[in-house]
Amino acid sequence: MKNLAVLASGRGTNLQAIIDNVKKGSIKARLALVISDQEKAFALKRARRAGIPTLYADPKRFAGRSAYDAYLVKALKKARVDYVILAGFMRILSPAFIRAYKNRILNIHPALLPAFKGVEAIPRAYRYGVRVTGVTVHFVDEEMDHGPIILQEPVTVSANESVAELEARIHRVEHRLYAQALQKLVAGRLRITGRRVLS
Ligand code: GRF
Repeated sequence: MKNLAVLASGRGTNLQAIIDNVKKGSIKARLALVISDQEKAFALKRARRAGIPTLYADPKRFAGRSAYDAYLVKALKKARVDYVILAGFMRILSPAFIRAYKNRILNIHPALLPAFKGVEAIPRAYRYGVRVTGVTVHFVDEEMDHGPIILQEPVTVSANESVAELEARIHRVEHRLYAQALQKLVAGRLRITGRRVLS
C-alpha cells in the first residue's frame, strides 16, 4: 500500500475528504503524515483526530526556503512517503523539493487552469464574470499551478449566486475530484507523457 502525506495550511476540508475516503477504503492508501506551516491550522486538528502523525514546521525557524524544504523532504522520507498531496498548502515548493518527489506531488486548484492561477482564484473568477469555472487536479512541476493536468471538472456560475455560494459548490467538487484522482494515482493508473496524463 502506498503512503501519502498531505500538506495543508488552513482549514483542511480537502484533507478531511481524503481522510474519509481512506477510511471508507475508496482510496487504497495509508495516510502517513500531515504537515502544516501553520501551528493553528485546523487541518492539524483533523489529522490528530483521525490518528494521523502530524508535523508542524515553522518556516521562521529556518534560514530560508531551501533549508525549510530540505527539512520537510527529510521528514517525508523518514515517514516513507510515496506521494505528496498539496491541499491548500500556501507555500511555493523549492526546485529541490520538486526534484526529490518528481512526478509524485499533486495539487488541487479551484479554477480551470491555466485560468486564474495563484491565490484567491474563486473570487477573482467571480469578479471577472466568468460563466464557467471549475476545479483542476494536477501534478506539480517547478512553475506555479502549471504541471500536467490529471482531472478537471467545470462548474457553471449561475447569474445571481453569491461568491460564497459559488465557493461552496466549488469546494464540494474539489472533495470529490481529489478523491477520484487519488484513487487512480495509488492504483498506479496515471501515466505522464509530456503535458498529458493518461489514465
Ligand atoms: C482549496 O480551495 C484548494 O483548491 C486550494 O486551497 C483550498 C484549500 O481548502 N489550493 P481546504 O483547506 O482544503 O478547505
